Amino acid sequence: MGKNNFSNDTHYFRKKVDSQNGYALTFDDIICVPGFTNFDPVDIDIQTMIGPFSFKIPIFSAAMDTVTETEMAIQMALLGGLGVIHRNCPYEKQLMMVKKVKRARSFIVREVATVHPKDTDVQVKQKMDQFGVSGLVVLDDDDRVIGIVTARDLPYDQNQKYRVEEIMTKNPICSMDGISREEAQQKLYEIRKEKLPLVNDQNQLVGLITRKDLRPEFPDASKDKEGRLLCGLGISPNLPKNPFDLETFKKIDELCDIFFTDVADVYKSNDLTGIKEIMDITQTPIVLGNIGTFEAAERILTKFDFPEDKLIGLKVGMGSGSICITTIQTGIGAPTLFATAEVADAIQMYNPKIALISDGGFINSGDLTKAFAAGADVTMSGHFFAGCTESPGYIDTIGGRKVKVYRGMGSKEARSTGPYAFDRYANVKKLAEGVSDYVPFVGSVKGVLDQLCEGLKNGLVYGGARTIQEAKQIVIRKITHAGKIESSAHDLLSRK
Ligand code: XMP
Repeated sequence: MGKNNFSNDTHYFRKKVDSQNGYALTFDDIICVPGFTNFDPVDIDIQTMIGPFSFKIPIFSAAMDTVTETEMAIQMALLGGLGVIHRNCPYEKQLMMVKKVKRARSFIVREVATVHPKDTDVQVKQKMDQFGVSGLVVLDDDDRVIGIVTARDLPYDQNQKYRVEEIMTKNPICSMDGISREEAQQKLYEIRKEKLPLVNDQNQLVGLITRKDLRPEFPDASKDKEGRLLCGLGISPNLPKNPFDLETFKKIDELCDIFFTDVADVYKSNDLTGIKEIMDITQTPIVLGNIGTFEAAERILTKFDFPEDKLIGLKVGMGSGSICITTIQTGIGAPTLFATAEVADAIQMYNPKIALISDGGFINSGDLTKAFAAGADVTMSGHFFAGCTESPGYIDTIGGRKVKVYRGMGSKEARSTGPYAFDRYANVKKLAEGVSDYVPFVGSVKGVLDQLCEGLKNGLVYGGARTIQEAKQIVIRKITHAGKIESSAHDLLSRK
């Protein structure tokens, strides 16, 4: 595929989905047609970018309380995507979840478990259990590193009592803070040790590197500069009102990588003003959403003075989620395919650096290819992931099938948790804008992502696109009801 041809046609994506002619098409209304393929399937690269962050897999899990908490966020990031933690909980809980994700895979541990030389072997054992580690750094009264004590140093004989200073390895080799991953690997290899304490120029402990954390088990993981997993978080468009929550929010801001405003329709002046206030006091870049039209994107990109380094993406789609009933209840909606194409044109016109996240409505892996052909840089789904092992909640059995609960954030059930996400909707009184139901249990996120990525990659091969950027040039055509039937399995005994 040659040079892109959307940069000089201001209606390129809208023409593709015919929104020009008054249509608001959805995934099942269109099909991507085959393109010329002059590369090998192994050359396909589905890497994508949002602001300064790059992701090997352009698929995120949604900020929903039956989809993304710590476990899902860790797994999504390890595999190359991103988990966006939900906001249907107190700020304290959000902080705890973000902390866990950021600590999960850092090659530098900053909160190191330590002991004093006068502590006993019993205290050592207790601390190891408490932190789930097999070695502790020994610090003197001035926080200087004087030893390391590991499980191997503990006596077999439980009746014999020892002080740490009697059993520790004295004066362990340390490195100065600021060491790179590669340097740390080399150093640990040279000294043939498991742990490398990091110190400042006073020999005081500032971190720890362990051999285990340097293992390249997840080569595709989405990581920050320190090697910690990337973490996304759904946030309100308004700053927390009480001072305690505000303090907690500021702590979250220090750790989190991307905020996603989690609002059904953010094209409201109050919300946009609230988001500007958030940007003024935080450092975390923000993906704004959701919106559904060219006009909304145009206004956000031209009339609002959002700092360039803070606004890094727009998230689109309204009422198309599998658990959404916003459109049924209110008559308003923007199918994800339509919204993607509308906003893609505005982004091309006003700020091509902004990433476009297509959110909700994906049922089959082929829908992902369609979203990228309509201009997306990333896709987000709750539906694909709610039934995974890593989503919150228990596996239930209904009629012999394993299932998990999946609920909309505007459902009565989600709202009963508390008022945390009430400002996600226009006006919360009695009207539910989401439902709660079951989805089949589908096993690990890895299995689900593997299957989705294979479908997407094969779609790119057929479409003749090597990358997500090239996928934007895949040709889209409308299909009829008959065409839709023909393009699924049909005329078989069980599929009439
Ligand atoms: P899928 O299709 O993956 O969609 O289930 C997930 C997206 O749906 C949005 N969402 C809602 N929309 N009412 C709505 O109208 C709701 O209760 C609701 N809960 C989630 C959200 O954008 C999510 O990413």
